[in-house]
Formats: sequence, C-alpha cells, structure tokens
Amino acid sequence: MDNQKIFLDHLGQTTTHPLLIEVDHADGIYIFDKKGKKYMDMIAGIAVSSLGHGNQRIKDALKKQIDKHLHVMVYGEFVQESQVQLSINLRKLLPEKLDGLYIVNSGTEAIEAAIKLCKAHTGRKELVSFKGAYHGSTNGALSISSNEKRKENFRPLLPNIEFIELNNINSLESITTRTAGVFMETIQGDAGVQIPTLNFMQKLRKKCDETGALLVLDEIQCGLGRTGKNFAFEHFNIVPDLLTLGKSLGGGLPIGALIAPQKTLATFSTNPELGHITTFGGHPLTAAASAEFCAILKGDIDLEDSISIYERGEALKSHCESKLEKAKMKVDKIITQSSR
Ligand SMILES: Cc1ncc(COP(=O)(O)O)c(C=O)c1O
Repeated sequence: MDNQKIFLDHLGQTTTHPLLIEVDHADGIYIFDKKGKKYMDMIAGIAVSSLGHGNQRIKDALKKQIDKHLHVMVYGEFVQESQVQLSINLRKLLPEKLDGLYIVNSGTEAIEAAIKLCKAHTGRKELVSFKGAYHGSTNGALSISSNEKRKENFRPLLPNIEFIELNNINSLESITTRTAGVFMETIQGDAGVQIPTLNFMQKLRKKCDETGALLVLDEIQCGLGRTGKNFAFEHFNIVPDLLTLGKSLGGGLPIGALIAPQKTLATFSTNPELGHITTFGGHPLTAAASAEFCAILKGDIDLEDSISIYERGEALKSHCESKLEKAKMKVDKIITQSSR
C-alpha cells in the first residue's frame, strides 16, 4: 500500500507542497519515519509538543481515563472529574481574577467563543485587532486576522473590525466605548515574533479599562511556559479580561480554552441560555491529558531555573542568527561572482 499516494490523492491538502514525512513513531525531540530515519523535531507540531513526544505522565493519564469512560455527554451538563481537575490545575498557573474556564476543541474555537462573549457581555458590536495578527482559520477568527491574501476569497467576513498598529500609542485612540473587545496575540507568531513594548501594553490595558472594552490576549501559541513564564502577559505586569489557550495545553491532544472571570463567562448560560455550546469540548481524554500537562508545568518545570527557558531561547536565537548571517554572506558572494 502506497500511503503517500493515498495521502495525496484522497486527503484534503493545505498546500501543493506538503512535507510528506511518513511518521512511524515519535519520542522526546525525535520523529522517526517508516524507514527508520530520525528527525530532530524543531517545530513541535507547531508549538504543541512542548513536553516532547510521548511524555510518560501524559500517556499514563490517558490510559487511566480510557479505562474509566470516554464521551458521556455534551460539554456543560455532567460533572466530569477530568474537566474539574483541569480547572483546578490551570487555576494554579493563572492570576486569581481569571477563575473561569470554558473548554473547546481548538484554538480557533476559543477565539470564536471569545468574539461572541465580548459582544454579548458588553452589548457592543465593534472589535479591534492588530496588523500582523493571526487568530485562526474559521470565519470569525479569520475576520480578526490581518493577512489579506488568506482572507480575500472568503469575504464577506465579520464587519466592524479595525486593525491597529502594534507599539503605536496613537493607534489606541481607535479603542472607544463602542469597542466590545480588543484581540491581541501577546507575542505575534505568524507575523514573525513581534513583541510589544512594556509601555504599549500598559497603555493598552489602561485604554481598555477607561472604555470598558474587553482585552482578549491570545496565548494559544505563546502561552504556557514558552516565554519563560507561565503566560507571556506576565512579562508586562498586566492581566487580560479574557485569555485564549490551545496547542500545548492538550499535552498532544486537541484542545482550546477560553479563560475569563466566571461571572463574565456566565453570559453564555444566561444571555442567551445555551449562548455557546459544543459536543466534544472538554472531552474526557483531552481534559485528562491537559490536566496532567498543567500539573507538569506547575510542578516539574522550573521556569526560574539557572538555565531558564528565556536564556535558552536567547542562546538559540543568537546561534541561528549567526548561522543565518554566514549563509547570507555565502549567498551574497555567489551572487557577486555570478554577476561578474
Ligand atoms: C496565535 C494563534 N491563535 C489561534 C490559532 C488557531 O489555533 P488552531 O489551529 O488550534 O485552531 C493559532 C494557530 O496557529 C495561533 O498561532
């Protein structure tokens, strides 16, 4: 059986040039293909496998949950231990104000839920987002993402969205008492790791407080230890009104989470009732893996370690920059020689 051919002929493609590695198994930082070739996984499933592949504690949590039960009811009706445990473990990482958790299946769904919550909770219709932003691929998330090329064929998208400039204090004037929510990746990923200044973030927080606009920080990619703190917003001494998480939160399983004060989340159950519903959100297997992931992040990873994640990131960055510089010099030399 030619799996590669079936993959290309019968599975929906996202580009015309997929990577086509035929995965056999994965362990730690390595992925092994069917021929036994070993790849160092520098992508981690796009910011998902932050504990490495095949973490034993995640596997044990999954096995334990499989023996208890799988899906028993849509999200929000039955008290399921795995979801309760996830809420407990996640709150140990979060500021006290963010005490409510709504579990969905992916990052983009967390963003959809956040868009709806901003509108229903404030009674306002306008949204503000950032140039360079990426928040997901569904209609609402795409509407607040800024890459025009990926949007143009799918219009009409959501109306009443303004895109402002990162680190431009004047652009904050676009946030008004008509703004339901301001969506921002605390560190922009798709735009090439764009980091806001401390001053900008603090002024942004102040402007949202003054206007009553909800500040939604998207940490689906940059959260959960990736910047050397549990959450990237901790670097700026601010707390968002809403927080979206996903990717690594599931310990390798699909998950998204909208986090907010529980009294804000109550909008979904009252205004209107069943204001946001999901069949598989908070699936017991996903929740069990995620609860374990949070326990590992809280208990076993010392973010303040002498060789901190932050320092390791800086070291890796300067190593890559020097390699890139050398490669650039080589290319420049070849261009100069061939143009003679
Ligand atoms: C910042 C950010 N937000 C949202 C998403 C969407 O998450 P998902 O692909 O799980 O729907 C992504 C995915 O890359 C992301 O990087």
